Amino acid sequence: MAKFDGSKIKTIGVYASGGDAPGMNAAIRAVVRTGILRNLKVVGIVQGYAGFLEKDFLDMDLRSVANIIQRGGSILKAGRCPEFVKPEVRKQAINNIRERGIDGLICIGGDGSFTGANLLWQEHQMPIVGVPGTIDNDIFGTELTIGFDTAVNTALDAIDRIRDTAASHDRLFIIEVMGRDSGFIAVAAGLAGGAEDIFIPEHPFQIERTIEHIKRGISRGKNSSILVTAEGVKPGRAYDLAESIRKHSGFLAKVCILGHIQRGGKPSAVDRLIASRMSVAAVDQLINGVCDVMVGIKGEDLVFLELPQCLKQKKHVNRNMIELAQILSN
Ligand code: ADP
Ligand code: F6P
Repeated sequence: MAKFDGSKIKTIGVYASGGDAPGMNAAIRAVVRTGILRNLKVVGIVQGYAGFLEKDFLDMDLRSVANIIQRGGSILKAGRCPEFVKPEVRKQAINNIRERGIDGLICIGGDGSFTGANLLWQEHQMPIVGVPGTIDNDIFGTELTIGFDTAVNTALDAIDRIRDTAASHDRLFIIEVMGRDSGFIAVAAGLAGGAEDIFIPEHPFQIERTIEHIKRGISRGKNSSILVTAEGVKPGRAYDLAESIRKHSGFLAKVCILGHIQRGGKPSAVDRLIASRMSVAAVDQLINGVCDVMVGIKGEDLVFLELPQCLKQKKHVNRNMIELAQILSN
């Protein structure tokens, strides 16, 4: 973990970056209030790294984060800034940040945002602590990221509703969930939703085996089926699966792509709790002179991992959960 003189920190900046995630507001609230209670000034940076470049800064006070713990989205917005991969752009961003008097940062985001944060420390010695915020849950070093639990519950609610209509019409449904190139949401929502099969980018599958599984169910009197797929980088994967099932079996599958509804809505208790706890710890890391680190959660405990370690390693989905879904949907 990188060390610096934490006593020099007087003003911290906080930003949300990448896709928004339910619970980001709870994280912003905790950063602002902890910072102020520790006698720091807190500046909100609007729209992630784009705000660095546009000098879109907000002075935060205790009241500026009132009544947001229950709100989805991010009061500081979120978003992407593709040009941040360029060193000269990051230099300009740091100049703007320093000009505003900011001497430490809290980055709420995913691995892309942490890559930018790590570079700001390596290249410009700007102390940053990461708080994992993404519905995808694909960050090594933490069991949970802020937003994942809410997104899974939103997907689950949708699966339950679709199950009602699937059962009434004896239909096969393929439900596509988000996750970019990872299958954490699919596996959790699929198993909890009683899916017959789950398709994720990390795990090869044979559509013939899925069809056999569905046919065995039909022979035992099952009249509807739910399959859950991760989007796998490109939304619309469910349509390819439906076509493949039609070609191999003649079964006609209905497709439902859940899309961005999984990113919105009020955060679950789990997301509010981890957001609050991680964010308080993140501010304290900065004050204690520790940076280039992410706050994660393992079981009941907060854990800390160097950002380069988080970025180097891949978090693996528990593939046994797919097999479990297949067995339990018999
Ligand atoms: P997430 O943080 O959820 O993984 P993205 O991958 O979209 O989301 O990244 C968010 C932002 O982080 C990007 O728009 C960009 O500004 C910054 N970022 C991502 N990758 C890099 C990189 N290699 N170098 C510098 N900044 C990056
Ligand atoms: O990273 C969060 C996420 O919602 C992914 O699950 C999804 O692939 C992506 O963001 C969608 O991004 P956009 O907001 O650009 O549509």
